[in-house]
Amino acid sequence: MKTYSIALIPGDGIGKDVTEATWQVLKGAASRGDFAIEGTTFPWSCAHYLETGAMMPPDGIETLRKFHAILLGAVGWPAEVPDSISLHGLLLPIRKRFVQYANIRPHRLLPGVQGPLRSEGFDILCIRENTEGEYSGAGGRVHSGTADEVAIETSIFTRIGVERIIRFGLEQARTRRKKLASVTKSNAQKHSMVFWDEVTDDVAKDYPDVEVSRYHIDAMAARMVLAPESLDVIVASNLFGDILTDIGAAIQGGLGYAASANINPDRSMPSMFEPVHGSAPDIAHLGIANPIAAIWSGAMMLEHLGEARAAADVMAAVESVTARGIGTVTSKDSTETITRAVLAALS
Ligand code: IPM
Ligand code: MN
Repeated sequence: MKTYSIALIPGDGIGKDVTEATWQVLKGAASRGDFAIEGTTFPWSCAHYLETGAMMPPDGIETLRKFHAILLGAVGWPAEVPDSISLHGLLLPIRKRFVQYANIRPHRLLPGVQGPLRSEGFDILCIRENTEGEYSGAGGRVHSGTADEVAIETSIFTRIGVERIIRFGLEQARTRRKKLASVTKSNAQKHSMVFWDEVTDDVAKDYPDVEVSRYHIDAMAARMVLAPESLDVIVASNLFGDILTDIGAAIQGGLGYAASANINPDRSMPSMFEPVHGSAPDIAHLGIANPIAAIWSGAMMLEHLGEARAAADVMAAVESVTARGIGTVTSKDSTETITRAVLAALS
């Protein structure tokens, strides 16, 4: 029997609740399928930082490398550890070191979930560049604390980085409605974003069957609200993709439904699956976090591992639960109620 070893990093706040819920569902899916999953839990989090002085041990990346995939809950507890430390000590290094350059985020309404828009029939796949661009971390500060202080944050766009994410987006479009929207701000940012457009045009020549359109980020933000049904696959830089996927989450009913996969497409290193939402300190420990975004991310993990049938079963279970109005209203149903309902629908 195939056995997948999964690294579980529940992290902070509601990350712990939704990871536990997701693991139960994935275990349920495995027990019905012909594969097994084995989880190893790592306590890496802000609490771990306060205890040890580090978000993860120095050999954390090496430890994770041997797993088939990583399931992560949420990282951050800003009241005690600044986000600039917690995220740069755990989440962002995992994305970068494992070259998880494609961040995939699906945006569609689950049955029974009410979105804020009139339009209900949208199905958008956002592909966010996940390792460079505006979040490269290149920069610095000089003359700190003085009136002459300067802060520089440099975006880095490489040909390899842009080419591979555009190609990934085009491949995804090919499996769907064959439309790719490339998002830039090339009217104002005349170096990096013009470069992005040029690379897009080059790579698109290999995909004559995909209709490629260009949008500026501001116009795309409006389009996602006004005409989301006109969109299929969106490809965007790290910052632009980060912002657009919160719009995507909003139009699909909220962050409780927004799933994501950080993919290493050549599979040389593990990929990581996590809900888009954060640790939500305000509702942590209340047991009311919606686990659907995390469970959906878990289904994306099964799909990535090659267990497409189990992934489809999990999504069918989630959809049958939301169709019955369970997990569709913020904080109405407990994490446990929703998880039990998904498990029941699965069997
Ligand atoms: C996300 C989050 C992270 C990101 C933060 C927490 C660094 O907002 O996954 O969208 O911007 O990548
Ligand atoms: Mn974000």
